[in-house]
Amino acid sequence: MKIDELYTPAILLDLDALENNIRRYAEEAAKYGKQIWPMLKTHKSLEIAEMQVKAGATGFLCGTLDECEFLADHGFDNLMYAYPVATKVSIDRVLKLSAKCNFIIRIDDLDGAAALDKAAGEAGQKVKYTLIVDSGLHRFGIVPAKVGEFAKKMEAFRNLAFCGISSHSGHVYGVSSKAGVPECAKQECDALHEAIASLKAAGFTPKLVTTGSTPTFWQSVADPEIGIFHPGNYVFNDAIQLSTETATVEQCALYILASVISHPREDVYICDAGTKCFGLDQGAHGNSSIKGYGHVIGHPELEVDGLSEEVGKLHVHGTTDIKVGDKICIIPNHSCSSANLTSYLIGIRNDEVDHLITVDIRGNSTRKNA
Ligand SMILES: Cc1ncc(COP(=O)(O)O)c(C=O)c1O
Repeated sequence: MKIDELYTPAILLDLDALENNIRRYAEEAAKYGKQIWPMLKTHKSLEIAEMQVKAGATGFLCGTLDECEFLADHGFDNLMYAYPVATKVSIDRVLKLSAKCNFIIRIDDLDGAAALDKAAGEAGQKVKYTLIVDSGLHRFGIVPAKVGEFAKKMEAFRNLAFCGISSHSGHVYGVSSKAGVPECAKQECDALHEAIASLKAAGFTPKLVTTGSTPTFWQSVADPEIGIFHPGNYVFNDAIQLSTETATVEQCALYILASVISHPREDVYICDAGTKCFGLDQGAHGNSSIKGYGHVIGHPELEVDGLSEEVGKLHVHGTTDIKVGDKICIIPNHSCSSANLTSYLIGIRNDEVDHLITVDIRGNSTRKNA
């Protein structure tokens, strides 16, 4: 089937671009002898995870316990959960995962650690963990200079095994041009160096030093102290990556196919894709260069400046040649959010539908939940 024959709106995945993105990051990591444990939350898809493994990924970072359980159920090993746990239900899930595969959790809080330690002791298990280092996002994380002191306190928890340190340079999504990315990458590396020094001074050697974001990868991958990288968005890229020139339009693999359905005013067209394809995402960490809700491919004069659930408003700056009845392709601001809004992505090659890619673990729920 040709793209032109598809119902709209549709969320498409350019398979050549996807494969190239996976290959480029894998080759760069291999060049420096580094491992990639990609962040799964971007695509939540078994098929894409398998492509990443084929390209050299040696583990995965997961954004939800659902994702961890799904990968463990499918025989994947080396799974890291990005966030701490604190409640009984989540702790029970962590214990099951730890019994099943090489599973590593992240910790930055002593109360949560105490609860996990107690449950692990009762179950006769040892749970592996890395400490989260704040490298500039100021979300989770221990201040780098205090990591050694924190690790000392963690020694009280005999059922938790220290493996190293982890970080995420998500503050890079607050910069609005290419020029801001190297500084964030430097902060990411410097924070980890400081944390390593703090650990060494307290008598600890981190076996794993792990971090990552799609934009900072290209600089941080060369850092000799960091062994594992967790890029996520790189498989698809999106309009946020365009804003820092981390990706080109051709490297944006995921986009929304929409039809232009109305021209109600001189400078306004309406298309049939809205928040149920794009979300209302303009970047989680405040990027002032993001205008509107997506990048209309080949139409710099069009700004997606309003969305309702099923429709999008296209504002014309100057003149345009689009007409009612045309099809347009729009790169969403945040492709991870768009992928989570559909049960399958329509894989495209040479303008034809190749096959459907299931978004296996979309949403935050699991069938095991009820
Ligand atoms: C903890 C953590 N690590 C890694 C990533 C991947 O970052 P990116 O999508 O920029 O590659 C994310 C994304 O949100 C994250 O939250």
